[in-house]
Amino acid sequence: MEQEHKYIHGYSEWEQNRLQDQNDVLAKYIYQNLDFAEMNHVLEVGCGVGAQIAYLLEKYPGLKVTGVDVDAKQIEKAKEYLSGLPFDSARYHLALIDGSSYAWMKEFITDEVDAVYTVWVLEHMADPGAFLHKLFEHCTPGTKFYATETYHHSLDIQPDNKSLQYFWNTMIARQVQLGGDPNVGLQLGKLCANAGFQVHWHKPFPMLFDRNKPEARTEILQYWRDLMLASKESLEGINEWDKELWETINDYIDSRIADKDSVFYYSFMQVCAVKP
Ligand SMILES: C[S@@+](CC[C@H](N)C(=O)[O-])C[C@H]1O[C@@H](n2cnc3c(N)ncnc32)[C@H](O)[C@@H]1O
Repeated sequence: MEQEHKYIHGYSEWEQNRLQDQNDVLAKYIYQNLDFAEMNHVLEVGCGVGAQIAYLLEKYPGLKVTGVDVDAKQIEKAKEYLSGLPFDSARYHLALIDGSSYAWMKEFITDEVDAVYTVWVLEHMADPGAFLHKLFEHCTPGTKFYATETYHHSLDIQPDNKSLQYFWNTMIARQVQLGGDPNVGLQLGKLCANAGFQVHWHKPFPMLFDRNKPEARTEILQYWRDLMLASKESLEGINEWDKELWETINDYIDSRIADKDSVFYYSFMQVCAVKP
């Protein structure tokens, strides 16, 4: 089940900690348009180290969450993380499963499941359209599907920098080479509709931080540095990690943090769909 070679972020301890910290930065944006209030049971596909599960259990005390992930180390870390938090263990269940293998869906997508949820996962799947078709087949009418996904072409940091653009494009190309699609966010509405779902909405979440939001801008720039660094192992694997280039980028991010007039922009994409 190990997918190290196929996954741009890898499964190092540093990356696992990054995933936990990531949600402290991003949850306040991700959850602005998502509502799980009327639900009893949510299934998260690609739950990683349990960051979204922890958020959902905390925010919705009546909710039960099942998380599945293709990697054993992630599931192990998620178990360790969640068991250290003050949640009743009966409220969550974790399982080692390849979301794209489909056979598991019959057992896990029962009438009890109100919503299936993915966050930063479809971008890593070779065929998210096929995944959604299978998901649709197994969902009962009324089951919701929520996804939060990347749209990497939307990144714009001003004043801009050629080294950053080069690195960002290299990272995008590497993810595509590994079978993923870092711009899958743009396709969510189409993919859900093609699978048979009724799309309630598909929209960007614009993160625009300038001199009016200096703290949010600093936080996101620091986060972005770590996100880019998370591709190091994968780029090293194909001899595309350039230490000098990274130092330039590191300095550039520092200078953008120090510059009161710098601007950060990125839109992730979300979809809310339902099986009619
Ligand atoms: C960027 S992490 C996001 C984790 C979590 N959703 C979050 O927001 O913290 C992507 C996760 O998707 C998992 N993944 C990738 N492809 C998968 C698949 N086909 N089935 C299940 N999990 C998958 C990876 O192992 C990884 O843990």
